[in-house]
Amino acid sequence: MSLIDVRREEDICVLTLQREGKLNALSGALEQELLDAISDEAVRRSRCVVLTGAGKAFSAGADINEFADADAASIAAYYAGTGDVYERIAALPMPTIAAIHGWCLGGGLELALATDFRIADETAAFGLPEVELGILPSSGGAYRLVRLVGPGRAKELMLLRRRFDAAEAHALGVVTEVVPAGKAIERALECAAELATLPPLAVETIKRAADLIPEASREAAMLIERLGYAALAQTDEATKAVDDFTRRDRRP
Ligand code: COA
Repeated sequence: MSLIDVRREEDICVLTLQREGKLNALSGALEQELLDAISDEAVRRSRCVVLTGAGKAFSAGADINEFADADAASIAAYYAGTGDVYERIAALPMPTIAAIHGWCLGGGLELALATDFRIADETAAFGLPEVELGILPSSGGAYRLVRLVGPGRAKELMLLRRRFDAAEAHALGVVTEVVPAGKAIERALECAAELATLPPLAVETIKRAADLIPEASREAAMLIERLGYAALAQTDEATKAVDDFTRRDRRP
């Protein structure tokens, strides 16, 4: 059986991690299938991608059995290969949503952090247990967490606190929304359907701007905004939207 189920519904693509017996631990084979899935036409042409996990968990993290004998060269080769999937997901042009239930640990949380929106149900349990294994989150997770919650909170989560629940994840800003048990995928699909109705070039540009602006000086950020506007204002989708508005019949 495939480790990633790819389901396309109209403009939305749902990618489900399918390694239930191992709580969707992220093995190299699973990461490779995820890489293949996001390169697939079905995903490339979709307007929103939802990531979720089958069974009891979103994902319990990187496959610890594959950590053995990791030397510097093989780690470099890993990040040049399947380990690049986290960055590739973050770089997708369309919005991405993680629908999270159950365990969301280590690499599983790093994968969720690589998406744009995280919707967790009340069963979700988060943590970055890497320090106990003598390592650190290294698939972009430390970077993204620090940017999201600040260095103080990130240190607390990475060094002191092993697990946190959905309510705390929401209070910290790690998840965008908390929903009742079993409802994460339903809510993610609702959000995805809404995002899919919006002008795609504007959506992509806003996503890119939000990712780049925290890295930029004020002047560079202003340039991103204004160049983005200059490019978008000339698109068919923008001119049509403005036309539709100005032609609207406003008679009472
Ligand atoms: N890597 C590899 N296998 C994993 C895994 C991981 N990260 N997380 C869970 N599994 C496997 C278990 O080995 C077990 O396999 P088995 O049934 O063949 O023995 C199966 O998934 C179910 O896990 P189990 O530990 O029996 O479930 P549990 O409900 O008792 O505990 C956890 C759940 C998440 C608390 C526990 O599995 C755990 O601590 N996992 C590791 C989490 C982690 O450190 N992740 C970060 C890696 S960077």
